[in-house]
Amino acid sequence: MTERNFQRHRRLRKTAGLRNMVRETYLHKEDLIYPIFVAEGENIKNEVASMPGVFQFSLDHLGAEVDEVVELGIPAVILFGLPLEKDAIGTQAFHDHGIVQEGIRFIKNRHPELVVIADTCLCEYTDHGHCGVVNEKEQILNDPSLDLLAKTAISQAQAGADIIAPSNMMDGFVTVIRQGLDAAGFSDVPIMSYAVKYASAYYGPFRDAADGAPKFGDRKTYQMDYANRMEAIREATSDIEEGADFLIVKPALSYLDIIRDVRNNFDVPIVAYNVSGEYAMVKAAAINGWIDEKQIVLETLTGMKRAGADIILTYHAKDVARWLEEK
Ligand code: PBG
Ligand code: ZN
Repeated sequence: MTERNFQRHRRLRKTAGLRNMVRETYLHKEDLIYPIFVAEGENIKNEVASMPGVFQFSLDHLGAEVDEVVELGIPAVILFGLPLEKDAIGTQAFHDHGIVQEGIRFIKNRHPELVVIADTCLCEYTDHGHCGVVNEKEQILNDPSLDLLAKTAISQAQAGADIIAPSNMMDGFVTVIRQGLDAAGFSDVPIMSYAVKYASAYYGPFRDAADGAPKFGDRKTYQMDYANRMEAIREATSDIEEGADFLIVKPALSYLDIIRDVRNNFDVPIVAYNVSGEYAMVKAAAINGWIDEKQIVLETLTGMKRAGADIILTYHAKDVARWLEEK
């Protein structure tokens, strides 16, 4: 036989046993964070139209949902709030008995071991829907927003939040939140910063879910331009200098290169936020029978881990935890 000079890559793909041995990336249920929308009021369990399987819950319906999350072995949830009242400065964001504060108390009381993360922003609580304070010229003001964010973070920590996750993209938010938490006696509460957050059309369904769409303009003066890559490093660098313990990259699917850049440049845990629009696209196609939902989701989330994410924040978390058990 003539000598052939090429590599036999297929040797390692021959059987499922071999393929599992050489598999480089694994998804674990321990990697997952599940988002929950808590609504002020009673007897609310509303499915979000653009996010099948995702609901807004009032506290009287929240118990069953968090029991299921714990039962499935998902270690963490992140809370978003739907207040009954909104105003110009988002007072309900930092109210001691705001809906997120009460949601945190409820969950920590029921499941002390479940990690409860509080999303810290104003957009769900302001009547104009922006993430910061707005002036008469409809400009979003940086520094006046910072005090409100620090107050929000402190009230969430007082309610028992295990992690504070500021998402509002004002400059200096990690500094003021770290200082505020430390001064209030919460130096042991970590900050999971939405450090690298792009102005994205992929947030559309979330804005229905959380009723947080801006009433005028857009978020492009504070969230990043999706064309930019170096800017992600600048944003992450400043947040680390200011004291962030985790870095979030958001969205995830169209930003896998950014996840890899951040992974290569920083040594803190990296969180990929698989956002609402990414979820909605998969769900829509799955409901039509056009894709295999389970295989698509596992492939997509494994891709996010392969890109460098340690943790994935995803609306698919409950399904993924179930699918991982099946295998
Ligand atoms: C609010 C916030 C948003 C998301 C998380 N926190 C929306 C926005 O910035 O407009 C998006 C989450 C998603 O789309 O799943 N600051
Ligand atoms: Zn916001």
